[in-house]
Amino acid sequence: MTEINSVTTLTRDGDIAVITLNSPPVNALSAKVREGLFEGFKAAGASDAKAIVLICEGRTFIAGADISEFGGAMAGPSLFDVQDMMEGSPIPVVAAIHGTALGGGLEVALCAHYRVAVPSARVGLPEVALGLLPGAGGTQRLPRIVGVEAALDMVTSGRHVPAKQALAMGLVDELVEEGKLLEGALAFARKAVAENKPLVKVRDNNAKLEAAKGKPEIFADFRKANARKFRGFTAPENNIKAVEAAVNSATFDEGLKAERKLFTELMMGAQSAAQRYYFFAERQANKIPDVPDDTPIRPIKKVGILGAGTMGGGIAMNFLNTGIPVTIVEVQEAALERGLGVIRKNYERSRTAKPEETEARMALLSGSLDFEKLADCDLIIEAVFERMDIKKDIFARLDKVAKPGAILASNTSYLDIDEIASVTSRPQDVIGLHFFSPANVMKLLEIVRGEKTAKDVIATSMKLAKQIGKIAVLAGVCPGFIGNRMLSQRQREAQKLVMEGAMPWDIDRVLYDFGFPMGPFAMSDLAGLDIGWVKENSHGETIRDVLCEMDRRGQKTGAGYYDYDEKGAAKPSPVTEKIINDFIVKSGANPRKISDEEILERCVYPMINEGAKILEEGKAIRPSDIDVVWVNGYGWPVYRGGPMHYGDLVGADKVLAKMKEFQATMGDAFAPSALLEKLVADGKKFSDIKA
Ligand code: CAA
Repeated sequence: MTEINSVTTLTRDGDIAVITLNSPPVNALSAKVREGLFEGFKAAGASDAKAIVLICEGRTFIAGADISEFGGAMAGPSLFDVQDMMEGSPIPVVAAIHGTALGGGLEVALCAHYRVAVPSARVGLPEVALGLLPGAGGTQRLPRIVGVEAALDMVTSGRHVPAKQALAMGLVDELVEEGKLLEGALAFARKAVAENKPLVKVRDNNAKLEAAKGKPEIFADFRKANARKFRGFTAPENNIKAVEAAVNSATFDEGLKAERKLFTELMMGAQSAAQRYYFFAERQANKIPDVPDDTPIRPIKKVGILGAGTMGGGIAMNFLNTGIPVTIVEVQEAALERGLGVIRKNYERSRTAKPEETEARMALLSGSLDFEKLADCDLIIEAVFERMDIKKDIFARLDKVAKPGAILASNTSYLDIDEIASVTSRPQDVIGLHFFSPANVMKLLEIVRGEKTAKDVIATSMKLAKQIGKIAVLAGVCPGFIGNRMLSQRQREAQKLVMEGAMPWDIDRVLYDFGFPMGPFAMSDLAGLDIGWVKENSHGETIRDVLCEMDRRGQKTGAGYYDYDEKGAAKPSPVTEKIINDFIVKSGANPRKISDEEILERCVYPMINEGAKILEEGKAIRPSDIDVVWVNGYGWPVYRGGPMHYGDLVGADKVLAKMKEFQATMGDAFAPSALLEKLVADGKKFSDIKA
């Protein structure tokens, strides 16, 4: 065995040279890995070996470039040097893939002459999720194998293609038995030698590109079909242009040059910086300073849910999907039946669940009107009406019924978890699990730590979140926790702006253009203006009251803040405009023209300021956790990183100056956070604040 460097070895199996990478956690293409590959291939090529197998130790084949190296100077051989060395090898190179060959990892594999994979492997070019494009020939080699349409789909979605499909697409040449990757790759290499197989260079294979030449409609149609999905993002367009360059360039090298230019544009831009920041933000959110990785976990084999409404049902589906049995308890038979029926319908309507899967999941679900049925559950989640007296009553009853050690969770979106826990004899077992609606779809889970919540309850909740496919963020107890507490700032300003002269559609447009999927008023129309509205108590005191009294209760009644045409398209409403103007006249205010800039600053800066207060009070561990909440739970555009990253982009000093200006004219709702003041005084950024 030759040790090429600390992460690479070169060994022999008979006539075959084997280069093995071992650079945990994911064999990313760091300077050391590139050096190992370069020197390894050089040495193997110069030896008397007949073929070379490239394989990785650990959980995966190369999972891409080392993202943490981006933005800095690259040391050692470049990825292109490595690829040239592989592609130009005088003997066949076989890449042996397990885990995930992603980004630069797949781009390396595409420079091997052949690829074999185990059935569980996946391959993909996910750079678009980092605001980038595959910048090591991926956009040039991929369409040469899979064709232009499939390449466009892969590079703009970033999806991971399962090995079996990769085989059908020609990305992989052979599947080998699971667990026997090296044996399979060696056998393939020996066959290649014995059969004198050609040294296939993907770069020379132009047939699939020829088929797309002179057909610009392929690209035009693709852009049109995906315009909504790509709105606001710069990376999808550059990915498309790079594939276009593969088709339209006279040579491979010319295409590569175009790819490089488009890649550099993205790499230098603010969007990719935000998306790369966000990649690490999501992973950081799992790290809780005082709850180490080796904290024991409580086994969760059965889950109980109180309340069969929309939230309870959606929450239940998460566990059923992962094979964990669920018991739902309701107070009324009709509500229980309805709730169980909705879950079944959701599965039946889902495009992903096959009929037998629906039946398997429904078989894990039971419903009851009997509280005692929760006695054998390891985790019980309360998802009933948002009233403290009701929650306290339920937790006092749960305390009597639940088995010792069971985790008692509330799905409250803003109530005090400590007060809820105080009615039990086991506050250490109580935690907040704030799911977002629809709970079976939305990725975010805000986990709320009470004053006495035990560390193993937190560790168990974080792990369980991952198991059910959620992105969890730990918050402290405060009204609305992280997400809703900040949202209330934006809602307040949106309502105030309307009373000052901006129309709901002006505000919605500004926030939509910023990158949110919709603005607050369109959102209210979608959710229903009558949430929390009681007809008997409504006396036309607010704009919403008047709208609801006129039966303009949102999209479901065909009118709300907006009018809706027969196709459901929203239009600014003269009715709403008149109601608003009447209110303004009544209040004696003088409406004024409000600029888009002011709308954005009034809606967003108070959120950043509130985020700073949340940090100052220790209710969020780090600024990036707040960003994870907003990107996953509230549609903050990921290409702007999240509110705190955006605060850094704008500059803490500018946010502070505006808050002070607003405070002077509009009062203490804009009082700056002490932390924001300190950051500015110290010349620091939110990203300088560590956990
Ligand atoms: N660079 C640096 N670090 C990486 C990394 C990368 N490409 N991919 C993963 N990591 C790190 C993570 O930050 C994490 O570190 P910590 O344990 O310190 O938090 C660790 O590896 C494990 O990652 P996950 O927690 O995500 O593990 P997982 O098993 O859930 O997922 C994965 C593994 C599917 C590979 C996932 O990490 C992933 O999707 N990684 C990114 C892949 C990617 O985008 N590759 C393209 C890179 S860009 C590129 O290649 C450009 C080019 O054209 C050359």
